[in-house]
Amino acid sequence: MSQKEKIILALDVEHFEEAQRIVMEFKDHVGMFKVGKQLFTHCGPKIVDFINMKNSRVFLDLKYHDIPNTVSKALIEAAKLGVDMVNIHALGGFSMMREAKINLVNTIKKLNLPRPKVIAVTVLTSIDDSELERMGIDVPVSVLTRNLTLLAKEAGLDGVVAAGSDIEMIRGLCGKDFIIVTPGVRIDDKQGDQRRVITPFEAIKKGASYIVLGRTIMENENPKAKLEELWRELENGNINQ
Ligand code: C5P
Repeated sequence: MSQKEKIILALDVEHFEEAQRIVMEFKDHVGMFKVGKQLFTHCGPKIVDFINMKNSRVFLDLKYHDIPNTVSKALIEAAKLGVDMVNIHALGGFSMMREAKINLVNTIKKLNLPRPKVIAVTVLTSIDDSELERMGIDVPVSVLTRNLTLLAKEAGLDGVVAAGSDIEMIRGLCGKDFIIVTPGVRIDDKQGDQRRVITPFEAIKKGASYIVLGRTIMENENPKAKLEELWRELENGNINQ
């Protein structure tokens, strides 16, 4: 995989036209675009169609969390849309993850569609030990993250979304083919509201398969030059997985 392909740019905008502009401007600089709840709720599948039409790829970040039957059906619709990667909440449970994966695989075979990669969200970075305690969950975030990662793997999911601090633990537990997508990436020392941050170089070096870049790139004076600088840094670092 080239270094460029490891970069996912978050389309955290409201309007279709703005998203289109960003896709046109950055499609040769990143490997994938992340379509999240705001943009998808506002403009729906047409943004996915647009990105596919431009021969780029989509990570549909809608974090499905529901009963197995509902999540299964949502994943099948994501496959029909032609997304490359989609995510679900591991807290939906093992049977939800397992059933959703099996139904997806069976259905896309029948429909002769490519299978999107399905990854799990374990514990949101906004949740800390005291939040868990208030919910009655008496284990630290680190333990819950580890348990949910193992459940996602056992359920046949392709990977997880993980904070920079968890990359090495997950790579060690789940092996080299497990996908790790890391958000909370900062190219400079402006931390913003992210609690657990990491630089792109460190994230890839520790074993992330993909990094999600958002404001850290879009708020830069010259985002394209920054991305090119980043590819060079990753290439010179001789990081290959
Ligand atoms: O903060 P930043 O602009 O880099 O965020 C980029 C994207 O990563 C956003 O769409 C955000 O929702 C997403 N994300 C995150 N932390 C997580 C999961 C997703 O920042 N744990």
